[in-house]
Amino acid sequence: MRLLTAAVTTVALALGAQIASAAPIEIKFSHVVAENTPKGKMALKFKELVEERVGDEVTVSVFPNSQLFGDNKVLEAMLLGDVQMAAPSLSKFQKYTTQLQVFDLPFLFEDMAAVDRFQQSETGQELLNSLNKRGLVGLGYLHNGMKQMSANEPLRVPADASGKKFRIMTSDVLQAQFEEVDAVPLKKPFSEVFTLLQTKAIDGAENPWSNIYSKKFHEVQPYITETNHGLLDYMVVTSAEFWNGLDDDLRVEIKKALDEAIAYGNQISGEQAAADRQAIIDSGRSEVIEITAEERQKWVDAMKPVWKQFEDEIGADLIDAALKSNE
Ligand code: LMR
Repeated sequence: MRLLTAAVTTVALALGAQIASAAPIEIKFSHVVAENTPKGKMALKFKELVEERVGDEVTVSVFPNSQLFGDNKVLEAMLLGDVQMAAPSLSKFQKYTTQLQVFDLPFLFEDMAAVDRFQQSETGQELLNSLNKRGLVGLGYLHNGMKQMSANEPLRVPADASGKKFRIMTSDVLQAQFEEVDAVPLKKPFSEVFTLLQTKAIDGAENPWSNIYSKKFHEVQPYITETNHGLLDYMVVTSAEFWNGLDDDLRVEIKKALDEAIAYGNQISGEQAAADRQAIIDSGRSEVIEITAEERQKWVDAMKPVWKQFEDEIGADLIDAALKSNE
């Protein structure tokens, strides 16, 4: 009897030790921008909320500045289980779905309020599922903002871009957009943009204010034209394998924390864009060019044929639904 009691005690102690030492689940969140951007701040807010609420079960490690993966590798890494969350730009999902290309169409959204309306609409929410068949789960949209065009010479009308090399994200829509103005688009990773600009291997780029400022692109681009011609927003994604493998209660807690972190990121994105724009002007390193309505219309006329070009791939209904968000 004494032997039996001792055996039971030993097993109980061992189990207890095992439970006590069960390591928390680690969510690695990988992204490519700086910490002082809407995405950088959102990721840190997510870490804070998760660890505050379920820190004994889950930890979040945030890897900014392409420290862990660039956007060209991160989704593959996610499917292999090497990273659990990321928020690539909507321009970077082309290999997984053509539907999200709707967000790249130039001059489609009048402002960020229209973008927000579309993302929160039934159609926008359905698009979060467009990656499911490829093993990825869209968890929400995050704003950065509208893109501006920068170059080593002033860009006022489309003819000014002719023959110039522009870095673009990995999107065929963005490639077509620059081809429409006879420029030379080059798909390059975000981590290489500063050096490419600094060494003049390329002439220009398109970026939202927070990316220009946080990565100091304005120090190597003497002119930034305020075109607001396109969108740079994100989708926060995870893998179906990771997400569905979580206990239901924990998944609910993590999603709640993420929704709150995204709401925070979206709320600060507008103020951040305005502040970074002003900081660039104040730095005196780059001239911010405000174009006239007539000049802007020339860019619209030159780039809009891209819509027709991608209508079949994206779907005319989807383009119409996005356009309706302007009303
Ligand atoms: C880019 O590659 O320009 C952007 O996707 C970077 C980012 O995440 O904002």
